[in-house]
Amino acid sequence: MPEIRPYRPSDRDAVADICVRTADNGGDSRSLYPDPDLMPSIFALPYAELEPDYAFVLTDADHPVGYVLGAADTPTFARRFRTEWLPRLADRYPPPTRAPETPTDQMISLMHNPERLVIPEVAAYPAHLHIDLLPAYQRSGHGRALMTTLLNALSTAGIPAVHLTMLTSNTPARAFYDRLGFHHIPVPDVDVVTYLGRSTS
Ligand SMILES: CC(C)(COP(=O)(O)OP(=O)(O)OC[C@H]1O[C@@H](n2cnc3c(N)ncnc32)[C@H](O)[C@@H]1OP(=O)(O)O)[C@@H](O)C(=O)NCCC(=O)NCCS
Repeated sequence: MPEIRPYRPSDRDAVADICVRTADNGGDSRSLYPDPDLMPSIFALPYAELEPDYAFVLTDADHPVGYVLGAADTPTFARRFRTEWLPRLADRYPPPTRAPETPTDQMISLMHNPERLVIPEVAAYPAHLHIDLLPAYQRSGHGRALMTTLLNALSTAGIPAVHLTMLTSNTPARAFYDRLGFHHIPVPDVDVVTYLGRSTS
């Protein structure tokens, strides 16, 4: 039976692999982003490293097969991403000097703009999160269990609400979030992405 436990540094490669296999709108991203370190460097590993209290993995025989990763306070996370995480990536992914042309270029631009995470519309939802499970473990209640684990941890720490950003076209994920009580947060001038939020209790 899969189990949920806190993230450990030895889970790093498995967590990165889950990210790669779910980063193309919920599906395998390897053909879209050939560099396997790119997406985890933006959407998974900085959370596990900077916010270990809010990083949980679903394991099968102690091997991670899913995760939920939270940042307790989004402005603080964006600041730490800039000052503590980005310098570690600068050699591998230098700041772009021209407009992005490829999907990889677009992600590198995003990586170099952590301040994009801080928008006034989500100020009442200080935390944000990412959740991904390998396909074989989806639709069995594990996503709900992971989410409950994170919501409890945030609530216990006194963080009242959480938000997330998803690609609007990821309709299966939207059905999941709707079922878990997330609601739409209106944000002007976005259509490719949707903002959702809920209280942590
Ligand atoms: C989205 C995801 C995290 C959901 O986790 P999951 O383990 O598959 O979902 P669960 O089995 O815990 O489902 C919880 C509830 O949501 C509903 N749900 C989940 N996926 C659904 C879908 N595709 N369509 C309709 N309802 C769905 C379930 O029926 C369940 O309802 P219930 O508990 O009231 O019976 C998981 O499927 C996943 O990792 N997908 C690929 C990566 C991804 O898209 N991540 C989100 C990026 S924004």
